[in-house]
Amino acid sequence: MTFSGGEPFIRKDLFELVSHAKSLDLVTMVITNMNLFKKDHIEKIAENFDFFGVSIDTIRPEVYKEIRGIDCLERIKQNIHKLMDGLSKLKAQTEVCAMVTVSNKNAYEIHEIIHMVFDELKMDTISFNLIDPNGGSTAKEFIPTHEQINYFKKVVVDHKSLYPISNSTQYINQLGNFDYKCNPWKCVQIDHKGCLIVPCLFLDEKKIKLRKQRLSDVWKSKHIKNIYSQYSNCKMCNLGCVAESAWSTYDLNFIINDSFRGIIIPTIKRIRARNKGTS
Ligand SMILES: C[S@@+](CC[C@H](N)C(=O)[O-])C[C@H]1O[C@@H](n2cnc3c(N)ncnc32)[C@H](O)[C@@H]1O
Ligand code: SF4
Repeated sequence: MTFSGGEPFIRKDLFELVSHAKSLDLVTMVITNMNLFKKDHIEKIAENFDFFGVSIDTIRPEVYKEIRGIDCLERIKQNIHKLMDGLSKLKAQTEVCAMVTVSNKNAYEIHEIIHMVFDELKMDTISFNLIDPNGGSTAKEFIPTHEQINYFKKVVVDHKSLYPISNSTQYINQLGNFDYKCNPWKCVQIDHKGCLIVPCLFLDEKKIKLRKQRLSDVWKSKHIKNIYSQYSNCKMCNLGCVAESAWSTYDLNFIINDSFRGIIIPTIKRIRARNKGTS
């Protein structure tokens, strides 16, 4: 279960929600800008989150301000240092991942971002996504050029064997080619009001109030099945999580080589090193 937003830490009951999810044996994840982070969150993060994604798109404070509207890159970096130290002391299993949205503002910074994330901030993993032009009112102004995408792909591929980069080689290689089929039913998206968003956040064709009907009943309805199947071949947003979750349903080679050998094992080793204080 992934908590995203908006900013999940605006919710005062976030830890209550995630702890409930954990008690149901769900794998728990959050994506945050860490603006509302407090030191006393660390223990609760270690206890409740399997995956902790921090958005960080640049090494330059002025670019951070331009992208996000507030000048707080340095404070976010200090928060990341505190979190990494705290998790290491607790020997927590939580994976801390830098989430980088690649745009025309940061494509040529990718090399510096990788080194900042691993060597300076000592984070566990990094994950890249190309900006989705439909994800936000100004996103179209941020679309990177072909040259920028090619530079970004080359840097990531060159660093893949050195650091636990959480994108598969298959995803990086197909970037810009839209070589996947989505199957949007794989990711059940529910908004802050408790509505199911069908088929996904980006297309938002229908909203169904789950306070009035059970998800399992909605799931069986022909009408909903039809909408999901209408988009089963959609390849519009090209997000890594979407493409990779599709491949992992039907491609055993992808699961064993790209996913297990290429991402999971290097990540486990890095978290072990963090907890031993040797990363
Ligand atoms: C929408 S944010 C929500 C969580 C939190 N407020 C944050 O800033 O991390 C989740 C992730 O989506 C990324 N994102 C925002 N707009 C995007 C777009 N148009 N395409 C792809 N990713 C996008 C953000 O950079 C962030 O890593
Ligand atoms: S590929 Fe299409 S259906 Fe799937 S998440 Fe992206 S926009 Fe939605």
